[in-house]
Amino acid sequence: MSAVVAYLDAAATTRVESNVADVVLHWMTEEFGNAGSRTHEYGLRAKKAVAEARAYLASTLGAQTEEVIFTSGATESNNIALLGLAAHGEKTGRKHIVTSAIEHKAVLEPLEHLRDARDFEVDFIQPGPSGRLTVEDVLARVRPDTLLVSLMHVNNETGVIQPVAELAQALVMTPTLLHVDAAQGYGKRTEDLAAPIDLISISGHKVGAPKGIGALLTRRRGWNKAPLEPIMYGGGQERKLRPGTLPVALIMGLYEAARSFHAQRDRWESDAYALRERLLTALEKTRYTINGDPEHSVPHILNLSFDKLSAEALIVRIKDQAAIATGSACTSASYAPSHVLTAMGLPKEQASNGLRFSWFPAQVGEFDAEAFAKTVAYMQPDA
Ligand SMILES: Cc1ncc(COP(=O)(O)O)c(C=O)c1O
Repeated sequence: MSAVVAYLDAAATTRVESNVADVVLHWMTEEFGNAGSRTHEYGLRAKKAVAEARAYLASTLGAQTEEVIFTSGATESNNIALLGLAAHGEKTGRKHIVTSAIEHKAVLEPLEHLRDARDFEVDFIQPGPSGRLTVEDVLARVRPDTLLVSLMHVNNETGVIQPVAELAQALVMTPTLLHVDAAQGYGKRTEDLAAPIDLISISGHKVGAPKGIGALLTRRRGWNKAPLEPIMYGGGQERKLRPGTLPVALIMGLYEAARSFHAQRDRWESDAYALRERLLTALEKTRYTINGDPEHSVPHILNLSFDKLSAEALIVRIKDQAAIATGSACTSASYAPSHVLTAMGLPKEQASNGLRFSWFPAQVGEFDAEAFAKTVAYMQPDA
């Protein structure tokens, strides 16, 4: 792969920086004990390190240490949360769930499974062209038998931020639980997540940790724990909710990445806004639409559709200059319109031609926004 290809796909994943890689290597090669081994120093040191990482992660969310469960990433956290609540819903006869139609597949598919295989009723709310739901949109669907609302924090295709903190305040006095998939927002807007959200899914590799590590926060309401049943069985680790030997090296990598990200967050944010400005200024001579409400978006994800320009053709044309993605699932033969842009009710051509630009400023490399804009202008047919 050429080093001159600018990396504009940070919503897909980020690079592990050397400080994080050093920590991971150390906990793989030097201190390799099993955190479950209680009879010797190797195990005890690993256990202590994991406890420190867990306490740090909890503190970033204003939570208690024991409320953090390490998982392999947001997909697993979502599955443990959503499928894990099903037995409680069945026992109590509360089998209604509210979510949005723009969730990641790691939420949509477990919920479709509950609907199709376990007879749950699931409302998938469509947000309209802004890509943002209001608290009222959600509350209008909540009924006495609503077990759960699952709403993402930051949309991975448009960068639009959902009002999860306000929703948490509105639901806290009701029996309805709130799950938030915070894969894209943790680290960047962690303050939203300190609200009384019952279950929060986190992914490490969106903030510079290795792939394959994440967490689920299961926050208590007063003395009540979220009534989760395990979806896997084994050695009883992680309060029996995620059994299996703890990946100490990955957990320490997540800890290091989260701390480094926190330390540079303000700089990251101003650099992310600057890059956004640079890109939009360069594109002034082209015709494009921003998909989703730019007033309620994170600074590092931008979804654009260029008028009369195929996303696929543009990606192929600039692949030696910049790595960007369509928000949509892409098969080898065709680009399907994004389910997110489609659920926002955008016209078919606009939804099919959405391009997601996302960046982690220090990892972009050289991006020539002017040259990119020239390519777009050259390819775009006259209006
Ligand atoms: C919103 C959202 N949820 C879940 C996931 C899945 O996360 P992971 O790769 O940690 O399983 C992603 C990753 O793309 C995401 O953007």
